[in-house]
Amino acid sequence: MHITIRQLQVFEAVSRRLSFTRAAEELHLTQPAVSMQVKQMESSVGLPMFEQIGKKIYLTQAGDAMLLHARTIMQHLEAAAEEMNDLRGEDSGRLRVAIASTVNYFATQLLADFARENPAVEISLDVTNRELLLSRLEANVPDLALMGKPPADMDLVSESFMDNPLIMIAAPDHPLANNKQIPLSDLPEAHFVVREPGSGTRVAMERFFADQDFSYQKSMELMGNEAVKQGVEAGLGLAVVSAHTVAQELTLKRLVKLDVVGMPIMRRWYVAHRKGKRLSPTAQSFRRFVLEAGARGTS
Ligand code: PGA
Repeated sequence: MHITIRQLQVFEAVSRRLSFTRAAEELHLTQPAVSMQVKQMESSVGLPMFEQIGKKIYLTQAGDAMLLHARTIMQHLEAAAEEMNDLRGEDSGRLRVAIASTVNYFATQLLADFARENPAVEISLDVTNRELLLSRLEANVPDLALMGKPPADMDLVSESFMDNPLIMIAAPDHPLANNKQIPLSDLPEAHFVVREPGSGTRVAMERFFADQDFSYQKSMELMGNEAVKQGVEAGLGLAVVSAHTVAQELTLKRLVKLDVVGMPIMRRWYVAHRKGKRLSPTAQSFRRFVLEAGARGTS
């Protein structure tokens, strides 16, 4: 398979815009030049990357798979260029931050504050669950990650900056909503809405229940905090979530916090990067910014 980096760039742009014309505009090429690059790539690969249905184009299964590789290769190229800039003593002013989905509830404010103080910095933010975030770190994609406690067996430098209390939530009409110090044993028939596998919140919840010899019943598994909160509001069951994710719903009394013995489960948020990674001055200053914001308790 002989494909060029230029072909991958063109293919990525067409996949993102789902249009040869718009990709051509973006890349300052003519539309036939874009089609030609894609055709050449398809003939090297031996499979079509796109299919046309009516007036629209769609990625084929092969195109979908190739897109993941194309993006990885392009991220590596960018990382290589930035590392070379670093070695020349130049700072690209770019900052790639990966955050666990639960961090999103406060990280956007943090990034906005940082961007206000550093208007020249171009920030890209990748929001994903813990497991995918770890694989991004493994692939050396982000400069910095904001996440739950990193696994000890990964070569990361990490420092904690803020509490992450996990609480149990219920719909406001839950019969135990006003009780104090509820033992888990008072919830034997309770059903739980749980996060997808790969979520750090879910791992922590399962560890807590296992430590307490409490076997929970799963009513539904949902992707992301928003879906879990809506599931609880809709009466699908209880859930364990980070307190950061439900501040509004608790204030508006759309959800209630159950006062369960042993909870909140106290976790911490960490700022992490790969050991040996050369942090650019921009990344170092963002790292300091996060640690200071955590110390002030303003994040
Ligand atoms: P998550 O949060 O549940 O969104 O993966 C990260 C974590 O709690 O470690």
